[in-house]
Amino acid sequence: MTQQQNFLVIGAAGGIGNDLSRRIVAAGHRVLLCGRNREPLERLGAELQQPVEVFNATDWNATSAAVDRCVDEFGKLDGVVNLAGSLILKPAHLTSAEDWRETVDQNLTTALGLVRAAAPTMRKSGGGSIVLLSSGAAAIGLPNHEAIAAVKAGIEGLVRSAAATYAAAAVRVNAIAPGLTRTPLTERVWANERGAEASRAMHALGRLGEPADIASAIFWLLSPDQSWITAQTIAVDGGLSTIKMGK
Ligand SMILES: NC(=O)c1ccc[n+]([C@@H]2O[C@H](COP(=O)([O-])OP(=O)(O)OC[C@H]3O[C@@H](n4cnc5c(N)ncnc54)[C@H](OP(=O)(O)O)[C@@H]3O)[C@@H](O)[C@H]2O)c1
Repeated sequence: MTQQQNFLVIGAAGGIGNDLSRRIVAAGHRVLLCGRNREPLERLGAELQQPVEVFNATDWNATSAAVDRCVDEFGKLDGVVNLAGSLILKPAHLTSAEDWRETVDQNLTTALGLVRAAAPTMRKSGGGSIVLLSSGAAAIGLPNHEAIAAVKAGIEGLVRSAAATYAAAAVRVNAIAPGLTRTPLTERVWANERGAEASRAMHALGRLGEPADIASAIFWLLSPDQSWITAQTIAVDGGLSTIKMGK
């Protein structure tokens, strides 16, 4: 049996986070379940018998405190995941300054805040795995995705640089780039049949993603079974970013 590992997941009660947290616990590991809203986190924490930390991950001090709590309670931190994010579907000319700041904050500020808190801690304890979330929209030009494509491309740059900085300490840094996945974040896109059908048609495998498709890939990146992957963004997107279907 693999040795028990200790993880921190931001956005643990969300669509992908819920599935990921269940996988982590089912495999015998421990996880600090983090997010903004107390009620869904506490429900999940009670069910999985895992601790909960409620904070907004745009606040770097709060993220650092959550990392410190893991070390205090678990003894060691083996992996962290940032699932905080957002979805904005607007062309550049309709994107307000507030939309933009919110998109940067929710995606990039939360991601850098986690890297800067967790990487030094893992460096001290002999290594670990950091997983961030990009998007298929960073790799292929989709209309009305300017702001989210820009910040998710930023995540991919962050992954490569942080992977270089911390590689000597065996801290791996990678991202998963999902296609459209059926979670609360994207419900407004897939909840109506017209939107769902148009989205399905963009994914060569002919269906939308499920949280398990993404969570299983994140779990694999966290796992000590693989320890030779770093600086990568792995597309888990049913072909969205690389296959153009002919009619
Ligand atoms: N679903 C997709 O199709 C898709 C595609 C490409 C990329 N992604 C990326 O995958 C990640 C997870 O997405 P998801 O679909 O699982 O979204 P989700 O269902 O909305 O889950 C996100 C979770 O993060 C929490 N969260 C949001 N902002 C936070 C903050 N500032 N501080 C702390 N917690 C915060 C949310 O809690 P509350 O909102 O309740 O506070 C929620 O529990 C995101 O980065 C997203 O951009 C998703």
